[in-house]
Amino acid sequence: MSFPASPLIVAHRGASHDAPENTLASIALGWAQAADLLEIDVRLTRDGAVVLLHDETLARTTGCPAAPQALDLATIRQLDAGAWKAPQYTGQRVPTLPEALAAVPADKGILIEIKCGAEIVPALQRHLAQAVLPPERVHLICFDHEVLSAAKAAMPHIKALFLAGGTHEGRPRPLSDLDALIAAARAANFDGLDLGEDWPIDAAFVRRVHAAGLLLHIWTVNDGARARQLVAAGVDGITTDRPGWLRKQLQGDG
Ligand code: G3P
Ligand code: CA
Repeated sequence: MSFPASPLIVAHRGASHDAPENTLASIALGWAQAADLLEIDVRLTRDGAVVLLHDETLARTTGCPAAPQALDLATIRQLDAGAWKAPQYTGQRVPTLPEALAAVPADKGILIEIKCGAEIVPALQRHLAQAVLPPERVHLICFDHEVLSAAKAAMPHIKALFLAGGTHEGRPRPLSDLDALIAAARAANFDGLDLGEDWPIDAAFVRRVHAAGLLLHIWTVNDGARARQLVAAGVDGITTDRPGWLRKQLQGDG
């Protein structure tokens, strides 16, 4: 397997600037915009299906105020998950994880963000075992150390990246917090960190993470100048809502 030269461009919730996030339309557009990897958010339904959804409820993206775990998949599938974005996307449904996995081209990969508790881990494990996508092209990401630890323990062959933002209660986090994150990631055998772009990231910062044997991905970058700084600093992946646009910015065509 050969990934392109680093950093990898990751389509955040698909190509979510242009298409409704976490739908098959935004996934297809992410690949059309030449993303290397795709990021999706996953949650459980009442009947145990794994669906793509960022928020705790379906309200913002479908108009239904319920949480996904209060509804069966068949009911969720009747909702429209595209019209809120633009009329041309009317009829988009809330996809399942197997649908998203099946949509990953042979030379691409995926980041799956666990947005619920560890109760989703057995279903994730089952779907990933059944997928055609090779395990080395899958990354699990999560803000919750306990949940990601449970996933990594169940699937040690799948990469796990620990998510964290660079601010806490409106204040920038000190670099000592980075050291704590690194220690927490190493203790749980994680493969990397996936940090908010509001951390003070420069080459020394990246070296600190790499020296610990960890990958460093950054989210969510929709600014060309910031992306160029991150490339110069040596990060491994950049998550963006606009993969096609960002790649042009990095190639100097923006
Ligand atoms: O890729 C990480 C990023 O998606 C985390 O934030 O809120 O967009 O899920 P959020
Ligand atoms: Ca996410």
